Amino acid sequence: MKQASLLAASPAAALSLNQNTLHQITEAAARIAHLPATEAARDEDFWFAVQRAFYQSPQFINLENGYYSPQPVSVAEAQWEHIRMINQIPSFYMRRHQFEDRDAVKRQLAAFAGCGTDEMVITRNTTEALDTVIFGLDLARGDEAVVSTQDYGSMLAAFEQRVRRDGIVTRKVTLPLHPKSKSEIIGAYEKAITPRTKVMLVTHMINLTGQVVPVREICDMAHGHGVEVIVDAAHSFAHLDFKLPDLHGDYVGTSLHKWLCAPLGAGLLYVKKEKIPKVWPLFGDTDYPADDIRKFEHIGTHPCATHLTIADALRFHEAIGSGRKEERLRYLKNYWTEKAKDLPGVVLNTPAGRDQSCAIANVGIKGKSPADVATALYDKHRIFTVAIETPDVKGIRVTPHLYTTLGDLDKFVRALGELSRS
Ligand SMILES: Cc1ncc(COP(=O)(O)O)c(C=O)c1O
Repeated sequence: MKQASLLAASPAAALSLNQNTLHQITEAAARIAHLPATEAARDEDFWFAVQRAFYQSPQFINLENGYYSPQPVSVAEAQWEHIRMINQIPSFYMRRHQFEDRDAVKRQLAAFAGCGTDEMVITRNTTEALDTVIFGLDLARGDEAVVSTQDYGSMLAAFEQRVRRDGIVTRKVTLPLHPKSKSEIIGAYEKAITPRTKVMLVTHMINLTGQVVPVREICDMAHGHGVEVIVDAAHSFAHLDFKLPDLHGDYVGTSLHKWLCAPLGAGLLYVKKEKIPKVWPLFGDTDYPADDIRKFEHIGTHPCATHLTIADALRFHEAIGSGRKEERLRYLKNYWTEKAKDLPGVVLNTPAGRDQSCAIANVGIKGKSPADVATALYDKHRIFTVAIETPDVKGIRVTPHLYTTLGDLDKFVRALGELSRS
């Protein structure tokens, strides 16, 4: 990577902006290094330095960071540098440097994810990562898969295609919005297992409500029945502080453009080493043996600048620290939900327990449709959220980010109060 970068011209202004914001965060982090993460979460001086590291729209308050995360200034500027460098030496870069550079990024990403480079590949997103597994497993007519009604639509659609094409059977679990205990959730998944069950899909953090499910315990239970588990970690990776193998899933997919703040079009697929030979790549490959994870990298020409920028996103994330980031995000969610929960007619659809949710929460107003609430928030108050209306969940999803201020959340709670009284 170093060699290729030397060939590129770097505009001083972009580089200094890039270095300054990271530098300021690193300095601010050193000042609060002695604080436990739960206390650091309330240190507004530190978070002011982080807020300044992002671009912000003066036009509205964005509380819809569940779709994807904006890149901080340092990451976006770094991506532009990589694009410039690659465009200066286009196919020379592709032929001479891309593989070495991708390996270097993979080493950093694998170290962060807590796995080996021989059990992960960079993908374009969670959908590509998980569809690779859903379509790559040898499942025969009558084999069963357990999913939940609150799994992400694209993964449910992929299983539905296997139902139509291969005659597999899916059993759908309904999850409570406010589970009384972990065993209530684990039990719901366990009840759906039959002697024909081969695989289970479990979403670590449900996108509709932000509920965090006890994925590790579910995986252990499923393995006890000889069932493999595909984990959808789209929302939990680089949001909650954990390593991928901690989840005990056989296959895990995530999107790096969500909470890692990498550029759009970056994801990760982790496959437990001994499971790699079982999964066919989505795109045919004859370059690598069946037990080599690189068989999944055969996707055509790669978006190299995006891949390089993953390293910059990791640098930004690590300057803040995974524990501090998780606690700040939870603090922001608790800050507004604590104020909103007693407003008349307001219903929280997200469990409040420490290990049951983090940044994302869903809130409804009795007698109002989620679409009407989201529209009124934007039209009258310039606050952007998203309406969620499914058989299980009715409300707006509210997702602050590291750049969200307490003032933004106060405005949101005032607006919600006004709407609940109108
Ligand atoms: C739980 C969950 N899984 C998967 C996805 C799909 O992610 P992507 O569109 O990046 O593939 C999303 C997107 O929001 C999600 O929320």
